[in-house]
Amino acid sequence: MAGRIPQNFIDEVVARTDIVEIIGTRIALKKAGREWKACCPFHGEKTPSFTVSQTKQFYHCFGCGAHGTALGFLIEHDRMSFVEAVEDLANRAGLEIPREGPSTPSDRDRQESDLFALMTQADQHFRECLRDSDRAKDYLKGRGLSGETAARYHLGYAPPGWDAVLKKFGATEAGRTALSDCGLIIERSGDSDKAVSNGFYDRFRDRVMFPIRDSRGRVVGFGGRVIDQGEPKYLNSPETALFHKGRELYGLYEARQELRQINQLLIVEGYMDVVRLAQAGIHYAVATLGTATTPEHLNRLFRVCSDVVFCFDGDRAGRQAAWRALETSLTHARDGRQLKFLFLPDGHDPDTLVAEEGKAAFEQRLSQAMPLSEYLVTHLAQQIDRDTVDGRAKLAELARPLVQKLPAGVYRELLIDRLASEVRMPSPRLAGLLGLNETQSGNTTTGGYTRPLAPTRSYGRGNLTSQAIARVLQNPGAARYLGPVESLRQGVEDRGLEVLLELVQCLHGEPHLSSAQLVERWRDRPEHERLSELTSMPLPELKEEAIGLELAAIIEKIRAERGPERRWSELIAKAESVGLNEAEKAELLTLQRQARATATQARH
Ligand code: GTP
Ligand code: MN
Repeated sequence: MAGRIPQNFIDEVVARTDIVEIIGTRIALKKAGREWKACCPFHGEKTPSFTVSQTKQFYHCFGCGAHGTALGFLIEHDRMSFVEAVEDLANRAGLEIPREGPSTPSDRDRQESDLFALMTQADQHFRECLRDSDRAKDYLKGRGLSGETAARYHLGYAPPGWDAVLKKFGATEAGRTALSDCGLIIERSGDSDKAVSNGFYDRFRDRVMFPIRDSRGRVVGFGGRVIDQGEPKYLNSPETALFHKGRELYGLYEARQELRQINQLLIVEGYMDVVRLAQAGIHYAVATLGTATTPEHLNRLFRVCSDVVFCFDGDRAGRQAAWRALETSLTHARDGRQLKFLFLPDGHDPDTLVAEEGKAAFEQRLSQAMPLSEYLVTHLAQQIDRDTVDGRAKLAELARPLVQKLPAGVYRELLIDRLASEVRMPSPRLAGLLGLNETQSGNTTTGGYTRPLAPTRSYGRGNLTSQAIARVLQNPGAARYLGPVESLRQGVEDRGLEVLLELVQCLHGEPHLSSAQLVERWRDRPEHERLSELTSMPLPELKEEAIGLELAAIIEKIRAERGPERRWSELIAKAESVGLNEAEKAELLTLQRQARATATQARH
């Protein structure tokens, strides 16, 4: 199989494609000024809010927040996989995908396909061992699993002993290297007295094995559960060239195999939950691998269907995990998508519950899962006294960082309405408190403290880093007005700034990349969704050089803000909402004095 498609080929495909043509053959686009418009194909609407920009090679819907490149459109709209979308566009452009044929595979591809082959063999080996072990079979039976379910999920068994896998596949040094690269054996540390051969021992011993398959069905890792007691209860493959925990979802491949159409996906916590639910006839459950849900997980899930339900145990840990999942999902919430939360009774997980009450009762619960907005509002409302001014201010403060993560659109407006009615406040006023209205001109005065600089005002919505990133993405040519990345960084450590500087660096190397090409480079990274959003953020139209100057100024300000100004903004925000205590007032005055001194210095 051909390996990765080279990035420069994707660049080429994007460069030779016109997004207006691609989308125009699927929906009727009308010219509107410099852009093209249509009724959005991703949500129902009567007046068009879907726009396609020829210059950026990007689409964006102001109604539901959908956005992306031509490749993204084929993935979202035509439900193609990434590779299919690249193939489609390449064919149109008359380009041949540089397939590394069997005669000339790169070293990296060869290594990767060797590892996949070894994982398949290991999978087979563990399944054979399960057949031979009454102890393991009894354990699975005891947990209510049938042979058919075990076969469907390729359940296996790693027998006790230190070297079963090692002996079978690790006779040569090359074999041992491959086993170790797959995470199946572990190198002995110097002082260990474990019975080992050749300095290695098996990672999985006396465990029930759950193979984790990627979207193509290839085994990329394993989860192993102890039989009876023992620590750790579950052991996962380590991160390897094939396996990235934050990306894979256990059971997604099996769900797609089983169901022709997936209307809903249920995210549960455990391997056993997925398998037990499938046995009960609920084939659409997937599990994260002992980690919190990541943006990458959500991207994958929403590519499969638009209705996702998180399922959590009713205990404290479950509720904490649920709230964390909510925070991660906010940037993915938009019209046309459903995100819900299902809380199980305390002491239960999906495994025990479905065993106890069966499919119908479980699906009944599922149909009553709580929508994200509902969960957000009730969770916040519980923490405040909505009958007092202080309580409402606190609600605004708690909701601000959350609501700001939501993409602009009808969904966000509705959520603000919902919050507003909860605290009996007019929506526009709450939106103002949430920092979502354009600030009025002039300096803001807050309880006697004047804010000499209003950094957010002059740049409109969003924080500074986002503002800068949006400018770079939308005007890649402006990057040439910026100095070398090292001088821009100057020892400041900040995640957002790093992304910005990486974009700038990328453009310094390849100045002619378009917005769409830049965003495509981030496709497999966690920031992809956010970068896509910023590519469609409305910005004032300026000449490239002016944008370059603006960028330099913003970066300057970001650097300044990582220092005392950050604390200052926090205090101002607090003064605006709940007020400051004496110590905080004193701190704010000191910061203000220092800032004046610096400003005076800077003028000399
Ligand atoms: P059973 O006891 O077999 O029913 O497992 P469970 O899925 O109910 O277990 P639990 O709710 O404790 O854990 C849920 C998931 O968290 C598991 O499926 C694992 O992915 C992960 N997990 C649990 N315990 C461990 C552990 O000790 N180590 C690691 N790495 N992951 C764990
Ligand atoms: Mn369980």
